[in-house]
Amino acid sequence: MGRLQGKVALITGGARGQGADEARLFIAEGATVYITDVLEEQGEKTATALGARFMAQDVTSAARWTEIVSAIVAEHGRIDVLVNNAGVFKVARLLDTSEEDYDRIIAINQKGVFLGMQAVAPTMCDAGSGAIVNISSLAGLEGAPGAFAYGASKWAVRGMSRTAAQELGRFGVRVNSVHPGFIDTEMMSQTPAVVSGKMEKVMRLIPLGRTAEAEEVAKLVLFLSCDESSYCTGSEFTVDGGLHR
Ligand SMILES: NC(=O)c1ccc[n+]([C@@H]2O[C@H](COP(=O)([O-])OP(=O)(O)OC[C@H]3O[C@@H](n4cnc5c(N)ncnc54)[C@H](O)[C@@H]3O)[C@@H](O)[C@H]2O)c1
Repeated sequence: MGRLQGKVALITGGARGQGADEARLFIAEGATVYITDVLEEQGEKTATALGARFMAQDVTSAARWTEIVSAIVAEHGRIDVLVNNAGVFKVARLLDTSEEDYDRIIAINQKGVFLGMQAVAPTMCDAGSGAIVNISSLAGLEGAPGAFAYGASKWAVRGMSRTAAQELGRFGVRVNSVHPGFIDTEMMSQTPAVVSGKMEKVMRLIPLGRTAEAEEVAKLVLFLSCDESSYCTGSEFTVDGGLHR
């Protein structure tokens, strides 16, 4: 029997990268998976290839969250797992961050996670169980020079996850945050280390001496989404090759 047999899961930002790999592992473990994304063509393609369902979604819209959760609950009666994975990254130091970029990054990376948790919590609390996994970053555990707004948004994800865990625990709903280091996806190619050609230097700082495949994050997300992590909530899980000390 699969580790998510019969469960219904919603993964945001699932058109590519880590979200797509999480969808693939979840389906292999018996889940019915919905992926959402702003990339509609790629989302449809990924969903078809994996056997998932795709719904177009901009995570910054509260109205769209309501529509998506209502549609899934109407069909299945519940949502067991939410992975708030959608995110954007931009290289900009404090002094170079425009107000427009700050608002956009906070809206997607921070408000999107708030809206997602708020949208699924009532149905999970009614069911008396549920798992929410919020994708933060190493930039949510330490300073993020060169990615000021991104760091701010990922610290917020960490704080919201802890608070939500404390509020929802008594209803059987678990909330944890995941903090990846350098993961080989589209997003990593935009990081200051890659852009400035300093990846070799970063590699020397990573005890395991390499970046990670998206699947290595997906395996942790799978663990936090299934009953194997039944006593884990309000915790921060790093997957960074030992980079955070
Ligand atoms: N790649 C890394 O090194 C790394 C490190 C730490 C944390 N993360 C986090 O992991 C998560 C997944 O990122 P990834 O590495 O797979 O990168 P990615 O860029 O491949 O995937 C992010 C996905 O989010 C989607 N998205 C962006 N804005 C959206 C919106 N408004 N609504 C819905 N979807 C939206 C994108 O279209 C994309 O499909 C992100 O939250 C990211 O911040 C990544």
